[in-house]
Amino acid sequence: MDLSGAKIIITGGSSGIGKQTAKDLISKGASVIITGRDEQKLLKVALDLGCTGYHADVSSEEAAKGTVDFALEKWGSIDVLINNAGYAEFGLIHELDLSKLKAVYNTNVFGAAAMAKYCAQVFRKQKSGNIINIASTAASKGYPQGSIYATSKFALSGMTQCWRAELRPYNVRVIQINPSEVPTAFAQENRIEREQESNKLTPKEISNAIVSSLEMDNRGMITDVTVIATNPF
Ligand SMILES: NC(=O)c1ccc[n+]([C@@H]2O[C@H](COP(=O)([O-])OP(=O)(O)OC[C@H]3O[C@@H](n4cnc5c(N)ncnc54)[C@H](OP(=O)(O)O)[C@@H]3O)[C@@H](O)[C@H]2O)c1
Repeated sequence: MDLSGAKIIITGGSSGIGKQTAKDLISKGASVIITGRDEQKLLKVALDLGCTGYHADVSSEEAAKGTVDFALEKWGSIDVLINNAGYAEFGLIHELDLSKLKAVYNTNVFGAAAMAKYCAQVFRKQKSGNIINIASTAASKGYPQGSIYATSKFALSGMTQCWRAELRPYNVRVIQINPSEVPTAFAQENRIEREQESNKLTPKEISNAIVSSLEMDNRGMITDVTVIATNPF
């Protein structure tokens, strides 16, 4: 697709991977709406990037619907949804805090599903659209203390396959991107972005994968892209 003039929603665009992706899509001429929970941070980043910030916590279905309604009022159509908002909690199964499990699922799984629901209604009518789900290398490999985060990404991966099968007849591409570790504000209690490390990934590599997947002609769909650091050790 031609990204120039494309209308793109990125959930969680005020930091890390979402912020870099917004920047790169804007530089290609796209119009972008970013969302986030911290309104002050969101509006500052939106101003810096030259896009629109819409304050919305994706774990609320009402807020997810509000985001899509806002985009439709602004643009009249939507070309791309990037389900990027997500966070992690870790812990051993015998000490599992069910409230943390539910809270992470509310954002990483149910939030992404609510956004996809309302965008799919638009995409089916348009007979076009793209959904990018930011999953993780943790979406296909369980590990100790991964009961909350890794399984939320397994669920997102399963939903990716279901949505792809349902929406292909409407010319909708559903693409899963699996980043390995990227030093960002992710898993930082203070929510401050980590310094980049020369041998580790940066948000730019993930953004490159997203942009290239979208730029392929609409007749073709990259289903999954996994990005790992060449030598992070
Ligand atoms: N960094 C990694 O190592 C890594 C690896 C694999 C996959 N991922 C995935 O990549 C995605 C982006 O992560 P990142 O590294 O860029 O993390 P990040 O720097 O912490 O950014 C996360 C973004 O999501 C927003 N967000 C979180 N929960 C939200 C909610 N309920 N509603 C709306 N916005 C919400 C945050 O805004 P607020 O701060 O305002 O909440 C922020 O803008 C996540 O889905 C993560 O699971 C990350």
